[in-house]
Amino acid sequence: MAAARDLRATETAEVGGADAVELAKRHLIQPWPFAGSVGAEARALIGEGDGIYITDGTGKRLIDGPAGMWCVNVGHRHEELAKVMYDQAMALSYNTPWYTMNAPSAELAMRIAGHAPGDLSHVFTTTGGSSAVETALRFMQFYNNVRGRPEKKLILSRGGAYHGSTYLSASLNGRPRDRDWMDGADELVIKLSSPDPFRRPRGMSLAAFTDFLVDQFRDTVARVGAEKIGAFVGEPVQASGGVVVPPDGYLKRIRETCRDNDILYVSDEVVTAFGRLGHVFASGDVFGIDPDMITFAKGVTSGYFPLGGVIISERLLEELRRSNHPDAMFGHGLTYTSHPVGCAVALKNLDLLEEGVLAHTREVAPYFQAQLKTLEELPLVGEVRGLGLMGCVECVADRESKDPLQLDKDVGKRIDAHCHELGLLVRPLINMCVMSPPLVITREQIDDMVGILREGISRTMDDLRKEGVWRG
Ligand SMILES: Cc1ncc(COP(=O)(O)O)c(C=O)c1O
Repeated sequence: MAAARDLRATETAEVGGADAVELAKRHLIQPWPFAGSVGAEARALIGEGDGIYITDGTGKRLIDGPAGMWCVNVGHRHEELAKVMYDQAMALSYNTPWYTMNAPSAELAMRIAGHAPGDLSHVFTTTGGSSAVETALRFMQFYNNVRGRPEKKLILSRGGAYHGSTYLSASLNGRPRDRDWMDGADELVIKLSSPDPFRRPRGMSLAAFTDFLVDQFRDTVARVGAEKIGAFVGEPVQASGGVVVPPDGYLKRIRETCRDNDILYVSDEVVTAFGRLGHVFASGDVFGIDPDMITFAKGVTSGYFPLGGVIISERLLEELRRSNHPDAMFGHGLTYTSHPVGCAVALKNLDLLEEGVLAHTREVAPYFQAQLKTLEELPLVGEVRGLGLMGCVECVADRESKDPLQLDKDVGKRIDAHCHELGLLVRPLINMCVMSPPLVITREQIDDMVGILREGISRTMDDLRKEGVWRG
């Protein structure tokens, strides 16, 4: 078995006699490239995956710390998922959703609606998270047009947010660097503060910080006018912004403010849904809110097929059906909406979550959080935070100033490089390391993961001291 695996890893590295990394440098454009290396970049080659592990092009086995991109929830090489994709492709690989339909998409919609909070009853599937957010926003625009409120289109988003890479979804992004060189529909978006407790004003209590955030939201609505604001879009836990867990009660109060002002609340659960916080959806089960729409992607197929979607409230759909414009068309649909292979694998993935993976996640999550938290002993670490199987280690120059900028900016990348040597793939984010392993991770594997991370950070501290960049 081991020999067969090694062979496959080698085959993946060699493409038509050439080295895959060399071919990529000559022909492949990889996501989020810098201008200076666009189309000419060597990234770590991954040959294969198994459970929580991946193997790089040199045959080195690594713990997949970010579970791909927060998505390989039930782990790599899951035979049942592979088989269901094969079976569905052999039965029906594709049908046009324009004027036909397939059974897996209808069953998936029913099963997803069964897990969704409030009156979220209908599902529109897309190709991933960006197209899910884009769909939710275009639906909001259509809904307000049909209601005769064409001026009610502005969107509230927040600092630290990440909602995608299509034009409108990307316009909502609020992380440092994301928008510096990119255009956006800025005239449609209003940015509010990130609900990041770690970065709240010095000396402010958590309760006062929550009041500040809610007041800012209400003041903005009052200043701009509720009649101009169509939607608020927010991740329950800001994921790529550094696993920002909002203060208690904040999401509920924002939800109520949206309801009071007829602003649609879109909960972007592209990361948090399908198990990451121990439930299929976190909005209701973890945060006690019932949004008007929930967007999802990633974990819905455990990353085995590119699929996303938006769940929409029955109330909104009913309003459209009863409108004065029953013929107005929601001119929106993707070739791969309701893709039968994607929906079939999502159904099997949901079986696996329901049959044990969710319960396992809820069981190991407190251990994962407690073990990660021990890294706060290291002087380079300003804070370790997280929820469920999402964690973030934020490095700072010193805890007093919490300044990430006095350090070499890419301290996360330095830690990742050491961890790679030691057998762990990390998701580096400027001065942060984000950890979101496959949900099937065991306690022993959590110990391995945290042990390697500790050593990777220690080695990074040594390097920084040697270079004279840091004196911690
Ligand atoms: C919260 C959130 N929304 C949307 C997206 C975009 O999803 P995708 O990359 O599948 O288009 C992401 C991707 O990381 C995300 O984290």
